[in-house]
Amino acid sequence: MATPEYTLKLNGKLHSARDGQTILEAAQEADVALPHDCDDGICEACRVKLMSGSIDDAGTLQKHSVLACKAKITGDCEVAWDGLAEPVEWRGRVCHFQPLANDLVELDVRFQGSPAWMTGQYFRAQWKSGLEVQFFPCFSLDRPPEFNTITFHLWPETLFDGLHRPRNPLKDGKAIKLFGPFGTSFLRFEDERLILIADAQGFTPIWSIAMAACRGQPLRPKVMLVERSLASRNELQPAFSLLNERGVRIEVFDASASDLTAHLQQMLPDLTEYDVLHAAGTHPVLKATKALANGVRATLHPIPLLDPVPCT
Ligand code: FES
Repeated sequence: MATPEYTLKLNGKLHSARDGQTILEAAQEADVALPHDCDDGICEACRVKLMSGSIDDAGTLQKHSVLACKAKITGDCEVAWDGLAEPVEWRGRVCHFQPLANDLVELDVRFQGSPAWMTGQYFRAQWKSGLEVQFFPCFSLDRPPEFNTITFHLWPETLFDGLHRPRNPLKDGKAIKLFGPFGTSFLRFEDERLILIADAQGFTPIWSIAMAACRGQPLRPKVMLVERSLASRNELQPAFSLLNERGVRIEVFDASASDLTAHLQQMLPDLTEYDVLHAAGTHPVLKATKALANGVRATLHPIPLLDPVPCT
């Protein structure tokens, strides 16, 4: 028996798709550039809005969105996503490499052009280390941004030994290649309350989103939940003070709570479907945040931190 064919509308344009194909497979077959990265349900780069129709969401449904690399087509359907810069390769040089603490460095990379990205997106970075790692552009703690320079905060423990490999450490003057931007968990122009959650490794994207929201959306209510060990770091106190002065309510959560979802619920008793959450960090924090958001149908933009992968 022939596989049924359906109509698939991608950002308003009609295409056809076969029963059981993922949305991403169908988009690729139709030569449509749908943003994606890991192709495995991890990175959240392929989250699309389900406008109508029949989909097996494969457990990825959040409010009205699904992961295109996992959700399968089971009938006529329509999906849409925000127009984003297509990932491209950027070549640059490290122009500033400053340790902020034992396990935190600030890195500036200068480019020939001016890479575009949305706050909360990430790049994949490669230098002669044999690894490809995920870097989130962020704001410098003490310097104004320059148009062709991107700042990253890097936590070496999340990169294994990638930063300090003896033969190829990352340092001033080092050539570096970036590919991106990726990810759909970026700050949008909305006015709903913004809730930002960061565990010990998730500070960089959450700091960026918070700063961008303070600058561009000053009237939007903002709450930031930071994991206890992050909140107590000396080198980050200026960042927390700055956010606090700009109206961000900062609260501290305990990632080791036996029921993390209930713990977060207690901290956000007034959470509703009108709130927008961005959560960055490790799997247990993202899982608890997802349960929290799903419980009230709030919008969640999770920002998973990907493991480094060997360069091929
Ligand atoms: S490409 Fe779908 S989650 Fe990564």
